[in-house]
Amino acid sequence: MTTFWSLYVTVLSLGTIFSLTWLLLSTRKGQRTEATEETVGHSFDGIEEYDNPLPKWWFMLFVGTIIFALGYLVLYPGLGNWKGLLPGYNYLDNEKQTAFANGQTGWTGVHEWEKEMARSDAKFGPIFAKFASMPIEEVAKDPQALKMGGRLFASNCSVCHGSDAKGAYGFPNLTDADWRWGGEAETIKTTIMGGRHAVMPAWAEVIGEQGVADVAAFVLTNLDGRKLPENTKADPVAGQKLFAANCVACHGPEGKGTPAMGAPDLTHPAAFIYGSSFAQLQQTIRYGRQGQMPAQEQMQGNDKVHLLAAYVYSLSHGEKAPATDAQ
Ligand code: HEC
Ligand code: HEC
Repeated sequence: MTTFWSLYVTVLSLGTIFSLTWLLLSTRKGQRTEATEETVGHSFDGIEEYDNPLPKWWFMLFVGTIIFALGYLVLYPGLGNWKGLLPGYNYLDNEKQTAFANGQTGWTGVHEWEKEMARSDAKFGPIFAKFASMPIEEVAKDPQALKMGGRLFASNCSVCHGSDAKGAYGFPNLTDADWRWGGEAETIKTTIMGGRHAVMPAWAEVIGEQGVADVAAFVLTNLDGRKLPENTKADPVAGQKLFAANCVACHGPEGKGTPAMGAPDLTHPAAFIYGSSFAQLQQTIRYGRQGQMPAQEQMQGNDKVHLLAAYVYSLSHGEKAPATDAQ
């Protein structure tokens, strides 16, 4: 934390405590000490208030919390860069090394989490390592590995890809035969390790609004073999020229995609992640798209990603894999 933020936190915390103390003491001044039948004089919907002093127990409780807060802030880290008097918290000095690795034991949520991680690494590390040394295709046949991979998937991937891995708007289905970046076992692992960033440029300014409609019409009718909605003012023939001039560099001459750049196969609308209606196609082409798959190497490490890759691979290759709808 920089000195500025450290001071900011300190002044704010201590300032709040001292002003509360002042408030408590100042409202106590001039108060009567005995209980009374007199009221303070106002009435809310007929409800009146006795002009009695604060109950003693309540006052003492309040004083107690203030003393506790001050004591806590002296003993534990809490005031900006102040590390507290108790030993075991000075890992803040050295953010790169973890407290646990340094043998420091003061109770913090971070310490507890680190201990837990170390415990589970000791328990599961050797199993992960065993699978990591096997080819992904082999791991994908091992029920224990798939169970572990499935759990990792549920906690790290299902938020985006869905608990059944079938994807959602903007997130690809991982159980079918359509791959944006390639479906070989090692390629899937590369995708998960390093993440992916797809870049589909925006075309509105390049080919104009009519151009967007024309090329969308071409994708829909020629590549996908569907019919345009009625009364559409779009010309697939003009669209074909635009496609040849602007789109083939990434999507390929037949629109079948280029996995190296994550440009999807445009002949298979069932796998489109941004929708395949005429309106949705135009939206995609007009504004472009930037799908991002976050890299997992840092968080999971090689061995867990290996299991994840095997799990994902099994979804479209295993015995129980659902029938693909590839054409
Ligand atoms: C620079 C390479 C590049 C060019 C040029 C390009 N695209 Fe794309 N396109 C991509 C990438 C990469 C994606 C995937 C975007 C994503 O996943 O977020 C994509 C996605 C799409 C999609 C969405 C598919 C889906 O899954 O919903 C459509 C439709 C599309 N492009 C059509 C076109 C058309 C039409 C053109 C020409 C006007 C074009 N693209 C030109 C790279 C390109
Ligand atoms: C924050 C959302 C998010 C999370 C979390 C996420 N993904 Fe993704 N993933 C994406 C997006 C978006 C894409 C598509 C990128 C693109 O447009 O090309 C993707 C693509 C992929 C692909 C490539 C699919 C293809 O067709 O080539 C694989 C494999 C994959 N994810 C696996 C995983 C695994 C395994 C996890 C868990 C460790 C995970 N993802 C977590 C968003 C996410």
